[in-house]
Amino acid sequence: MTVGIDRIGFFTPNKYLDMHELAEARNVDVNKFLIGIGQNKMGVADEATDAVSMGINATKEFIDEIDISKIGLLIFGTESSVDQSKSASLFLKKALNLPAEIRTFELKEACFGLTAAIFTARDYCLAHPDKTALVVGSDIAKYGLNTAGEVTQGAGAISLLIKQDPSIMEILPGESSYSDDIDDFWRPNDHRTALVDGHYSMQIYLDFFKHCFDNYLASSDLTLADFEALTFHLPFTKMGLKALRQVLTDEVSEKLTNNFELSTKYCREVGNCYTASLYMSVLSLLEHGDLKAGSLIGMFSYGSGAMGEFFAGKLVEGYEKQLHFDQHQAMLDARNSLTIDEYEETFTKALADQPEQSKLTSSEASGTWYYAGNQDYKRQYKQK
Ligand code: CAA
Repeated sequence: MTVGIDRIGFFTPNKYLDMHELAEARNVDVNKFLIGIGQNKMGVADEATDAVSMGINATKEFIDEIDISKIGLLIFGTESSVDQSKSASLFLKKALNLPAEIRTFELKEACFGLTAAIFTARDYCLAHPDKTALVVGSDIAKYGLNTAGEVTQGAGAISLLIKQDPSIMEILPGESSYSDDIDDFWRPNDHRTALVDGHYSMQIYLDFFKHCFDNYLASSDLTLADFEALTFHLPFTKMGLKALRQVLTDEVSEKLTNNFELSTKYCREVGNCYTASLYMSVLSLLEHGDLKAGSLIGMFSYGSGAMGEFFAGKLVEGYEKQLHFDQHQAMLDARNSLTIDEYEETFTKALADQPEQSKLTSSEASGTWYYAGNQDYKRQYKQK
């Protein structure tokens, strides 16, 4: 029996900051951001847009196409939690009217959260072949105004349906994991923005990729040449390029570099979205490329702290019929460009906690579902 990805939903907020605008305001040569970091724009979440609302909007993209009575597991991976106790998945379950007979929880290991959810879902589907699992990764990357990490912010969500005999990608058995207790990036409980040792975090990412990839090849029958593409968690696109360059050989350089570029298109527009990032890269590749069914795609997932995993997927015949390229392009095209002042104001407002009672209106909110404020500290989500 094969298990893998059957549906992919994607969401990013309706506001963005162009890197030209940021570079000018921070007095930096724009080519540092466009070429050195490899980002063109970053998604900006306003106060009515949080990890939950983005996750709902991403899942809504395909929820009417699937049999919700078959979902037995719902996992929400995020490092942008909205509550210290209650799972983000419960808000989503209610918003989308999912049945009560579902096991559901939130899961955290920095940007690795959605990958952890996928492997839990894969094992669940193997144990319950007649059931499906919904896994969501949704995050807002925040380092703060005027920080070195500011250019690597972003926001977005990916939602996946995992099931047996999937229509998009089979996940192959034999993943390779690597972990260590490392302080490269973290967010203490009293911080709304991440702390990061930037250059150290890049080195650890590269080391972890090399460990995972080498171990993967050593323990499988596959070689580098068997992969049509290698895709990466992309905190910024240059990071993935540095990782790819560590393993390129003349034989595969053109194919893997071209397909890597296709996998970065959404990240260049959206920025880092932590848990969702790797799967936004995979989606970008599938929607911008022309890969044949049967193609092998390598995936490197990285969560600071740190946890790395390399694994592979095989494209299923007819996978392209399940993609919604036009809808995603329309979502990106419809976004509003912010001035630097508007970005700073939006960012600062969204950082503040809402009080015990508050009401946020839908007029500027992203997507159909939005965070509508608190009633007695209970978060309210509403549909426009
Ligand atoms: N034209 C072209 N390129 C230029 C340039 C110009 N005018 N000026 C500088 N550059 C290049 C530099 O040469 C450098 O390229 P290389 O790395 O290829 O040498 C690149 O631009 C970046 O320059 P700096 O290293 O000087 O940039 P910086 O010190 O301002 O910070 C950063 C970069 C460390 C990535 C910082 O943005 C940061 O801390 N980001 C957040 C941390 C992060 O994303 N880490 C990644 C791994 S951790 C992870 O993956 C988990 C996660 O999601 C966070």
